[in-house]
Amino acid sequence: MKAGRRVWGGLGVALAVLLSGQVCAQTAPAAQVTVHADRPGALIHPEIYGQFAEQLGHGIYGGIWVGEHSSIPNIRGYRKDVVEALKAIKVPVIRWPGGCFADQYDWRDGIGPRNQRPVRMNASWGGEDDNQFGTQEFMDFAELIGAKTYLSINVGTGSPREMSQWIEYITADGHSSLAQQRRANGRAQPWKLDYVGIGNEMWGCGGSMRASFYADVYRQYATFVHAPPNAPITRVASGANADDVAWTDTVMAAAGSQIDAISLHNYTIPTGNWEHKGSATQFGEAQWMSTLQGALHMDDLIARHSAVMDKYDPHKRVALAVDEWGNWMDQDPSAPDAALYQQNSLRDALSAAVTLDIFQAHADRVRMANIAQMVNVLQAMILTDQSRMVLTPTYYVFDLYQVFQGATYLPIDVQAPAYRYADASVPGIHATAGRDRAGVVHVALVNLDPHQATTVRIRLDGVQGTKVQGRMLTAPQITSINSFEHPHAVEPVAFEHAVLKDGVITAALPAKSVTVLDIR
Ligand code: AHR
Repeated sequence: MKAGRRVWGGLGVALAVLLSGQVCAQTAPAAQVTVHADRPGALIHPEIYGQFAEQLGHGIYGGIWVGEHSSIPNIRGYRKDVVEALKAIKVPVIRWPGGCFADQYDWRDGIGPRNQRPVRMNASWGGEDDNQFGTQEFMDFAELIGAKTYLSINVGTGSPREMSQWIEYITADGHSSLAQQRRANGRAQPWKLDYVGIGNEMWGCGGSMRASFYADVYRQYATFVHAPPNAPITRVASGANADDVAWTDTVMAAAGSQIDAISLHNYTIPTGNWEHKGSATQFGEAQWMSTLQGALHMDDLIARHSAVMDKYDPHKRVALAVDEWGNWMDQDPSAPDAALYQQNSLRDALSAAVTLDIFQAHADRVRMANIAQMVNVLQAMILTDQSRMVLTPTYYVFDLYQVFQGATYLPIDVQAPAYRYADASVPGIHATAGRDRAGVVHVALVNLDPHQATTVRIRLDGVQGTKVQGRMLTAPQITSINSFEHPHAVEPVAFEHAVLKDGVITAALPAKSVTVLDIR
């Protein structure tokens, strides 16, 4: 999935001027970036690059699972093209089966011979689910792509007993009946279960609970999460909707000592109106700006929830898991039967990059995040149509940013001219940095301005780089997409014109672009 050596053509003139040492006419005034490699921060947990795959629309069926008898090339029923694409970006963890779906899901529906599994209504999202993709298929899928496993437990209509039996079915060695049942269903060894979410959106579709009631329910369920020896399971409490810090406060106060992570959900709706969220492909600069403002709001959200968590957990033992995030637009009118299906443009790429920058800046607290969602749902990595597949602009941001997985966060200062539209204003340049285990420093730079290229001077404190190279993602229009007809319209290209001299890098960032530099 790596881009070839194609170089962004529109930079030709600007770079010629830049390289001759003058400020180029097309670029905005220089931005200054300082990377403090001499003050390394927290580990960037790979799991912040996690994904969410819910049993809805074409997210699982058609998107991941086609069945082993499909004419679409597959590996034991999983789409081969999708598996390869996901492996290429090293998906660290997958959350399943919901979302809202999870709190009405009976795990026993999805085990055993597929032709004997029941068909259930999907009460959350419409249509029916024939349970061809169940526990066996999810755990195998995660193993196939090398991802950790995150199960969302049914608390809304389930019971602690159902949960503990599900966990036992998955993880038990030995001779218990549930372990024997798993073996009879074709899996000899236990699977590794890494995370359990105790309910989903318990303030809403998970059961309309109040925080104090849920905190007690959480304590009850958490008591019965029995992990096998030497294979701990991280317990994630169902957290707040966006800026509801009172939820985090109440749950942390009452149950904090039993919580390993607490979640946060936040979606950006370009119009701010759930009835008319805005088109994924037909929008102007006002919604470009509002979407980026929505992404930037994540910084404030994390800071506020983390501050509340600090009251009960000053040493940051409890992680904040942003286990649903992304852009939620109107469903694509050309796909009326595919719940929550939306296209994905350059706008999604930039807002994803900004959000990932923010997670990294809070790496000491944010130790997992799951974009919503993996395939064919909301801000998807991948779109499929029968046998065809496209990788979205958001996918390519995850591709560019995979170098940060497991790196050490490096604090970064950015001074840049603002990007303004009408009455709104955001920083023109957003950035993040990290040093990987091989010692390579990576700096990501997002130019939010859709019109102006910007010259950036990057000072590296505490590192002596001798070589810089990079890759960059942009497109002709803010609305540019990868369609099934033109699947390669928005792809990363080599970025070969950053200059490193006397410890300072100078780079001209195209308008509306994401660039990741590697400094050795
Ligand atoms: O991601 C779609 C839905 O958004 C999830 O099912 C739910 O948790 C959230 O409201």
